[in-house]
Amino acid sequence: MTGKCEEQGTSLFSDDELDAMIVESESVRPVPGAKDPITEIREFHGWTLDKLEILDLYLKLYRRVAGGGTFVDAFAGTGEGTSATNGESKLHDGSSLIAAKSGAFSNLHLIEQNQASFELLQSAIASLPDRLQSNISLHQGDCNQVIPELLQLTRLDCSRPCFVLLDQDSTQLEWNTIEALAHWKSYEPPPTSNGRPRACKVELWILFNSHQAIYRLWPDDRSRYPETLSASTLDRIFGRRGNWWDLWESDKPSGALVERYADLLRGLGYQYVIPQPIRDPDTGRPQYHMFHATDHPSAISLMRWTKKKISGYENQQFPGMETAP
Ligand SMILES: C[S@@+](CC[C@H](N)C(=O)[O-])C[C@H]1O[C@@H](n2cnc3c(N)ncnc32)[C@H](O)[C@@H]1O
Repeated sequence: MTGKCEEQGTSLFSDDELDAMIVESESVRPVPGAKDPITEIREFHGWTLDKLEILDLYLKLYRRVAGGGTFVDAFAGTGEGTSATNGESKLHDGSSLIAAKSGAFSNLHLIEQNQASFELLQSAIASLPDRLQSNISLHQGDCNQVIPELLQLTRLDCSRPCFVLLDQDSTQLEWNTIEALAHWKSYEPPPTSNGRPRACKVELWILFNSHQAIYRLWPDDRSRYPETLSASTLDRIFGRRGNWWDLWESDKPSGALVERYADLLRGLGYQYVIPQPIRDPDTGRPQYHMFHATDHPSAISLMRWTKKKISGYENQQFPGMETAP
């Protein structure tokens, strides 16, 4: 099935500038994970807040450029969580509440597998004003099953932009799910070299757990951890054995998997695939990679500007736009 994207604004950067945005993946080191699953679910670490700030700001800009489409939060969580700074606990909106309040989407599909989290999500959504709730559909289940169903039943509007957040805990996201999303709409190039695409694929943000889960599956010191490799897990993440086995055989470090993931996404036909490390703001250490896959140069421009603004590298006005409200 092929759908047309709306005209989404002009490119703000040249092709050379866009090419220069590709961030090299970094060598990975292990980081401690939460021992307690409830903590994992409810407590936002510094890097989670960083990610959510990026999403919040990005969607404020996105609303102006590509608003009115569909949002899918494939790993929606509880809707909110707490962070503790200097012993002070603070409640924050999670990705689904941020998206719901952003006003950027006409339809939102929120998917959560865990029963307890799903119930918390239901209450969080129920506390929103009616006008926001009415656009939201909640789905309890495994997103790897729910997403293909949504696509097949044409419950998503393929004539409008579609943005899918895939914020997994560790290695739950299957390659088949990404493929289904990527094939749902086709890229149609612009009629002129500096024009806008006539149609775009689904825009994807994928949290790739390069520093916790992948490190555990793919130890750099194999003689010390010979039993660590889980081929079946890697098959699910990468689609099939042939997509990663050569890296294992040639003794590549785990960072090579980040490069390979980017290559596979490009192989699905995306014009821009940008892996960016998300760092712990306190230590500066990377925690995981966020992959952004899109066909639209403006999406990359927005993302790059947002990330730099949040990370404090740059605090300048987005060209041609006022500061988002
Ligand atoms: C990292 S959290 C998501 C956090 C959320 N994006 C936020 O900002 O609050 C991942 C969530 O995905 C859920 N989950 C795990 N496996 C899943 C699956 N296969 N399908 C849907 N949800 C899943 C977990 O229960 C957890 O709540």
